[in-house]
Amino acid sequence: MTEHDLSEHTHHQHHEPVDPESIDWNEIYGDEAGGLWSGHVNGSLTSEVASLVPGRALDVGCGEGADALWLAERGWQVTAIDVARVAIDRARAEAANRSTDGITWIAGDLLADDVPVTGPFDLVSLQYPAFPLGRRHELSRVLRALVAAGGTLLVVGHAPPADPNDAPFDHTQWTQPDDLVCDLTAGWTIERHETVARPGSHHHGSVHSHDVILRARRTA
Ligand SMILES: C[S@@+](CC[C@H](N)C(=O)[O-])C[C@H]1O[C@@H](n2cnc3c(N)ncnc32)[C@H](O)[C@@H]1O
Repeated sequence: MTEHDLSEHTHHQHHEPVDPESIDWNEIYGDEAGGLWSGHVNGSLTSEVASLVPGRALDVGCGEGADALWLAERGWQVTAIDVARVAIDRARAEAANRSTDGITWIAGDLLADDVPVTGPFDLVSLQYPAFPLGRRHELSRVLRALVAAGGTLLVVGHAPPADPNDAPFDHTQWTQPDDLVCDLTAGWTIERHETVARPGSHHHGSVHSHDVILRARRTA
């Protein structure tokens, strides 16, 4: 599936945005039986975690599991959560296919009243997260509580394309790294917060040529 196709779910005709709360991710994945995403690990994840010592990692919104598999195959003990059961089923099948162990797959909503994951984690990673902007404070609180002292919070989002008319969704409706950084004050060190060219090549042709990276370390 391309970002153009994805925009059919995130916009009404004439690019009138839909309410992000109304999106059914199971339906989006279900419409793409061959896989919604590329199956490749995200380049900004590989470059940002290269210097970290493997420990416990949480992949939030793991989709079809390419990042979780990559982490597990490099020695991380991974918990991977996605609200879309269809995506988790595909991820689990791919892990079995590759005989990759060490991943706990959870089909669930990270922002459920009873948070379905238990920390702390040495790495909490969100790659192109899709949380409505209206839930950013809740998301921020949950994420901060899940990171271990000395651990890393990594949030990678799409930088809006140069021409806003090319955007497959309205970035201002969704929580972006810039919306989370303001809460990372006392007890956090911001190691990186910048826009970079998106590493790797499998995304070529996407309107999203740049990533916004937020990498923060919990100091207390
Ligand atoms: C844009 S996709 C990114 C998927 C994956 N990280 C990647 O880079 O390919 C966002 C993912 O977040 C998941 N998601 C949305 N809301 C969620 C929630 N409340 N809890 C857990 N996952 C959620 C969606 O099902 C979807 O798989």
